[in-house]
Parts: sequence; structure tokens; C-alpha cells
Amino acid sequence: MTERIVLAYSGGLDTSVAIGWIGEATGAEVIAVAVDVGQGGESLEDIRQRALACGAVEAYVADARDEFANEYAMPTLKANALYQGHYPLVSAISRPVIVKHLVKAAREFGATTVAHGCTGKGNDQVRFEVGIQTLGPDLKCIAPVRDLALTRDKAIAFAEAKGLPIETTKKNPYSIDQNVWGRAVETGYLEDIWNAPTKDIYDYTATPEFPPAPDEVVISFHQGVPVAIDGVKVSALQAIQELNRRAGAQGVGRIDVVEDRLVGIKSREIYEAPGAMALITAHKHLEDITIEREQARFKATVSQRWAELVYDGQWFSPLKRSLDAFIEDTQKYVSGDIRMTLHGGQAIVNGRRSETSLYDFDLATYDTGDTFDQSQAKGFIELWGMSSKVASTRDQRAAGK
Ligand code: ARG
Repeated sequence: MTERIVLAYSGGLDTSVAIGWIGEATGAEVIAVAVDVGQGGESLEDIRQRALACGAVEAYVADARDEFANEYAMPTLKANALYQGHYPLVSAISRPVIVKHLVKAAREFGATTVAHGCTGKGNDQVRFEVGIQTLGPDLKCIAPVRDLALTRDKAIAFAEAKGLPIETTKKNPYSIDQNVWGRAVETGYLEDIWNAPTKDIYDYTATPEFPPAPDEVVISFHQGVPVAIDGVKVSALQAIQELNRRAGAQGVGRIDVVEDRLVGIKSREIYEAPGAMALITAHKHLEDITIEREQARFKATVSQRWAELVYDGQWFSPLKRSLDAFIEDTQKYVSGDIRMTLHGGQAIVNGRRSETSLYDFDLATYDTGDTFDQSQAKGFIELWGMSSKVASTRDQRAAGK
């Protein structure tokens, strides 16, 4: 029986050419797998037809938007995960859901190998292949750009020679990856890290310099997940979409960073994640009133580690699973409403309320009705400073003073 390979297919030039390229190089039959994670653009049906026209023997398409929102974006939100303090893991969290579908398709169509269109320089090759190794240890991996010398020039020449139904002339200088959680743009002019991004780079966000009137929004959460916007019930996917639209119109969520790739390279990336950044901001503020202090402090370090694991392609790892269990436990009381103003590139929280809040007005107030016994502070401070005081006495004695 002819060997079969499933290919992560986007519908673009590189993966369209990869279908025939892999076929010629390996003699295998190629099954194209396209997964909708809210990247927009063409319909799955158009992508499926193109895959078949480019020589795929089968095309598997999946609308994974709700799955992606519920099982990948929501855990990222519960973690308030920002890699290196900035990046909400847009591409990093889409790879594992694509991997799930690749492995599923490989089983369905009897494939032995999984192929993807990544280069050998980035994080995504790692995320795909570590994910595939974990979910399908018997499956092999191949990356035509990296392993079969499929360069851009060769891809264009191949598409033209074979008359593939794909645009080869439109030259986009940027490498773009997008889904409902955000958008990532790199390469070209941006590789000079002194160059400011030009307006044409952005798609999810309007220029924050000339914002429309401020937009006030109330986001309701239940156990860490948004469930209503301005009192209207929403799914996780709808919450992200709605905030992409509203926060995007105000230019919220533009990020310009040089980040540390897993492969050791520092790289410049522009992100736009209006919905993700508005949600993370609101969620964090709700945690501030509903999570106990020590749990909250510890969660911040867990969150950082979680972001690193996910960035580094360890979505399916045991440590990530254990950290998820901790994070999930912290979300038990993260329910309530956050009011925020979206304006001029910022999402600023100005109101919060929760049935499970730890904020105690009677303890906090400086007005009459104060129930906090200030006389207890004196003794507490004495003991709190005791060990430093003892050490400092010793230091002075040792210094011969
Ligand atoms: N640097 C980001 C990451 O590693 C995004 C990668 C994809 N970016 C792109 N522009 N193609 O997760």
C-alpha cells in the first residue's frame, strides 16, 4: 500500500506546493488537513477544493473555533499567560489544537507521517513535532521547507510549472500567523529592530492615536471564564470575537517586542491581540479581589512558568498538566463583573463587583465604621521585623562597631 502523509494545510502558496513536492520527493499520498482556529479569510470549503486541485488525495477540514476558544484560549486567560511579560501566546496555543486534528486525521486515513510547513528556525516546528510525538508516538514528522529544500523561489517556480490554482505574484513581505486569540507579524522591514511598524502591518486594531469615543464594557466572568458582555450571554469564542471588535476599534492590544525563541534566536515580532489583552486585563483585576494574597502571589510565578512551557512547545507535558490543575483550583471564586473603558489603545478597569469577593469595605475604610483594630499592628510589626533586627545587630557586632 502506498504510504500516506497528512499535511497541515493553510491554503497558501507554501503548503499548496508542499502537497506535490512531498509526493514527488517521497512517493507518498498526501492528505491535506485544514483547521479553522478563527484565522478568517477563505472558507474551509474553498481551502478544501484547492487542496484537492493541488493533488491531495483527501482533504480533512475542521471548524475548531469553539474548541480552540474553550480548551486553549480559556486556559491561557485563566493563567493570565504572557510570555516574557508581553506575548499572549497566540501562535503557541494554536499549534496543539492543530496537532490534535493532524493526529486524528492520520488515524482516520491510515497515515504514518505528519508534515507541516514550518522552517527550521522557529518555535512552531518544535510545537508541532513535540505535540505529534506525544499524541502519536508512532508517527514520523517531516517539514518540506526544512527537510526537502522547499524554498520560496522553488515554490513559486513549482506552482507556475504545474499550473497550481494559487497566487504566486502577490508578494507579502511579512510572515503572518493569525487566529481568534490574536495576530503575529514578522520578517521583512521589521527585522531592523529600530524600524517602527508601518500602518499597513495592522489588521485587528485601528490606530490608537485617533480613537473613536470611549467604549465602556462590562465583562461578567464565572470561575475565570467570560460568560456575558454588557449583560448579554456569550460563549468563550463570542467573548473573544466581540472584544476583538470593540477593543480593536480602540487600538487596544498592539505589542512590539524582541522575544527569545526556543531555538536560541532573538526575534522581532509585532502582535495584535485586542480581545485577548482586554480579557486578560479584566480577568486579572477580578482575580485581585477574589484570590487570597498568598495564592495570588504564587499564581504569578506559576503563570510565568506556564507561559514558558506553552511557548516552548510543552502543551501536552506532565508539568503543564500539573500547573493547569493548580490554576484551575485558583479559579473557583473568580466570578463577578468587571467594568472597563476601552480608549486610545488602553483597556482601563474602573469598577468591579463579585459575590465571592475578599474585599471587605469595613476593614478597608478610613471612615467611621472601620472594624480593623489598628492597635494590633504595632505588635505585628515588632515581630515581623524581628529576624532582620537580630541579624543586623550581629552584623554591627561583627564589623567591630
Ligand atoms: N513568535 C511567535 C511564536 O513563536 C509567533 C510565531 C509565528 N509568527 C509568524 N509571524 N509567522 O509563538
